[in-house]
Amino acid sequence: MAIELHSVSKTFGGTVTALTDVSFSVPTGTVCALLGHNGAGKTTVVKILSTLLRPTSGQAVVAGYDVVRQPGKVRASIGLTGQEVALDGSLTGRENLVLFARLRGMRRSEARMRADELIEQFQMQHAADRRVTTYSGGMRRRIDIAAALVDPPKVLFLDEPTTGLDPRSRRDVWALVSELCAQQITVLLTTQYLEEADVLSDSIVILDGGQIIASGTAEDLKRRVGLSYCEVTPVRPADLTRIFGVLADIEGAEASHESNTVSVPAHDGVATLIEVLRRVDQLGVELHDITLRKPSLDEVFLHLTPGTVSV
Ligand SMILES: Nc1ncnc2c1ncn2[C@@H]1O[C@H](COP(=O)(O)OP(=O)(O)O)[C@@H](O)[C@H]1O
Ligand SMILES: [Mg+2]
Repeated sequence: MAIELHSVSKTFGGTVTALTDVSFSVPTGTVCALLGHNGAGKTTVVKILSTLLRPTSGQAVVAGYDVVRQPGKVRASIGLTGQEVALDGSLTGRENLVLFARLRGMRRSEARMRADELIEQFQMQHAADRRVTTYSGGMRRRIDIAAALVDPPKVLFLDEPTTGLDPRSRRDVWALVSELCAQQITVLLTTQYLEEADVLSDSIVILDGGQIIASGTAEDLKRRVGLSYCEVTPVRPADLTRIFGVLADIEGAEASHESNTVSVPAHDGVATLIEVLRRVDQLGVELHDITLRKPSLDEVFLHLTPGTVSV
């Protein structure tokens, strides 16, 4: 295991509880996504694992080293990109990379060579000699991740690497992360996007209010919450009740008068869509739309924490 947490808790100032009894592990060479809303405790986990914060209780081991007892060894084994990009905007991308390499103890010539390699690997040749202040969010993020890789780490932490990026830059970052995996680097990334966790990770840990509410592979979780949702929108809102009537036996079916839809977890994917279509067709109601869509993070949370939902 490249990362192990055993009952890690963290309180700030004795009053704010950020993490309660968090335990999970990440096998070497895999990608784990820590998924949760703002304030769930994701950054706190990353900071504890990268030795920037001490756990209040519990134990955490990264690359075989205890984060409290062997912080120097942990730091030498990891790369970190924080939620805020850590580059110097007045320097060029290339100068930033050289600076990071020098801080990692490389000689000047070695640092320059490493910067060249990373610029090529990240396809940043066209922008490498411009100041970082002129970069788009996606380019900044790429150089930021490159900076965390100057000295190839065993474990890489990416704290919300795609928040605020446009869809194209987001996909660029996804491609980068997939490549890291091929290089046997273990990655822990945090995200608020279910889709991102699904695409990128071998395992997913869902945090809510500082506690793990579910964990497993994307497949495990999708099986539990429904692979996707089938949504039926009638032309006339008055037909909503009849549509719900023929779908109500499907577990998790819900009618929303607000959005004028009946939604059904599509446990069997397209087969569910076809079954829904068949049943609704027999009613002879006119439909505005019928779609298959991925569950939102909120829906995943609702399904994973049914006890907390009040109707
Ligand atoms: N330095 C701090 N002092 C006090 N409270 C903090 C501190 N850092 C984080 N918190 C609180 O801990 C909780 C988890 O925060 P954080 O780990 O940043 O969540 P996330 O990264 O998932 O948005 C939040 O309630 C936050 O307000
Ligand atoms: Mg955060």
